Amino acid sequence: MLKDEDRIFTNLYGMHDRSLAGAKKRGHWDGTAGIIAKGRDWIIDEMKASGLRGRGGAGFPTGLKWSFMPKESDGRPAYLVINADESEPATCKDREIMRHDPHTLIEGALIASFAMNAHASYIYIRGEYIREREALQAAIDECYDAGLLGKNAAGSGWDFDLYLHHGAGAYICGEETALLESLEGKKGMPRMKPPFPAGSGLYGCPTTVNNVESIAVAPTILRRGATWFSSFGRQNNAGTKLFALTGHVNTPCVFEEQMSLPVRELIEKHGGGIRGGWDNLKAIIPGGASCPILPKDKLEDAIMDFDWMRQNQSSFGTGCMIVMDQNTDVIKAVWRLSKFFKHESCGQCTPCREGTGWMMRVMDRLVSGDAEVEEIDMLLNVTKQVEGHTICALGDAAAWPIQGLIRHFREEIEDRIKAKRTGRMGAMAAE
Ligand code: NAI
Ligand code: SF4
Repeated sequence: MLKDEDRIFTNLYGMHDRSLAGAKKRGHWDGTAGIIAKGRDWIIDEMKASGLRGRGGAGFPTGLKWSFMPKESDGRPAYLVINADESEPATCKDREIMRHDPHTLIEGALIASFAMNAHASYIYIRGEYIREREALQAAIDECYDAGLLGKNAAGSGWDFDLYLHHGAGAYICGEETALLESLEGKKGMPRMKPPFPAGSGLYGCPTTVNNVESIAVAPTILRRGATWFSSFGRQNNAGTKLFALTGHVNTPCVFEEQMSLPVRELIEKHGGGIRGGWDNLKAIIPGGASCPILPKDKLEDAIMDFDWMRQNQSSFGTGCMIVMDQNTDVIKAVWRLSKFFKHESCGQCTPCREGTGWMMRVMDRLVSGDAEVEEIDMLLNVTKQVEGHTICALGDAAAWPIQGLIRHFREEIEDRIKAKRTGRMGAMAAE
């Protein structure tokens, strides 16, 4: 287990003073100007060397992403946009940063913006996070009063403004280009990529969009060094990370831990185990709604990181795990996700707009057992028509949970259809 002295988030549970004075006591805002004085190249190289991969779900290397920003201004301003639209079902880790440790994020925003030549940064926060935005705004105000933001921020010689923007409740606005559209005051619909935001982002200017956690860990990485951060986890999966456990564990929680620990260890040490014991486990969804479900027989030696999950036909996502015990109707659980994705599709591309509806309607019948067995393969085929054929990742996200369900629980689906059919036949015979 991670030692207390190696935790980046020292106020995750709100037990301490979250104000600037409290944050400083816990080591934040320490030597910020000194870090900036080391220069852009040093900061970006150190972030690359740390091995930090984006904590929003996709795991793109953070230092590499920062390096895509133009080194010299071509007359357009550059922006850092922080994605705080945390809306993935079961993902609730950034929320803890914003409400209990907001200074980690603000200090990170200043350093990251300097590294990318940005004098302004926007935090796009999920509309439902009302208390979180109050805490964050209060922390931003404190920083302006203390000279940590604004002209010559933190005595670094860099002028820097930080703005908090509230979303209005659309899941799709967590997709980075839909978020940019929304920030510009338009309807939140994803853009085609490329161009990636570093080439043309907010108002057509060079922009980097990063997740809250990715930015909030940067100051500590730069203070303690890339070698310290990369000593946790394993190659390609470095560092400490915020994880969450929800569902049928005894103590649902958000916690910081090192990458690449066994799934079982995380559940037992942090989640107090599965209700009814490990043998009562049925499946997990590893890191958010789009990650394919994994059954218990895959989980005995499972490692919680990007590579293990990808090699085992799932994904690590946000590291926020949904745990399901033997009482769970997994078909219904995945049906619920299908309903969610259908509802949240922005509708601009046909495979997603129509496909999410088709998938959900077949899932309706699988849940009740009213489908034909042949419809299972038909559904699988529809998921393949959607996957990879859409503008943004929502289409894939809608397809993957269903593919995982069919891969691992086909028998359960067939049994339900057969049981219903037998029941139907029995009823017809009785008539
Ligand atoms: P993506 O893989 O398309 O991109 C990831 C990041 O890398 C983006 O910032 C993108 O601009 C950048 N990137 C990728 N290839 C690049 C290239 N060739 N050149 C320059 N930049 C490049 O994934 P996306 O669509 O941004 O995110 C999908 C993930 O988001 C899913 O895996 C899901 O887990 C997660 N997600 C998280 C949510 C949350 O609440 N935290 C909500 C919904 C989804
Ligand atoms: Fe919109 Fe879905 Fe297309 Fe994404 S995949 S742009 S959510 S219609």
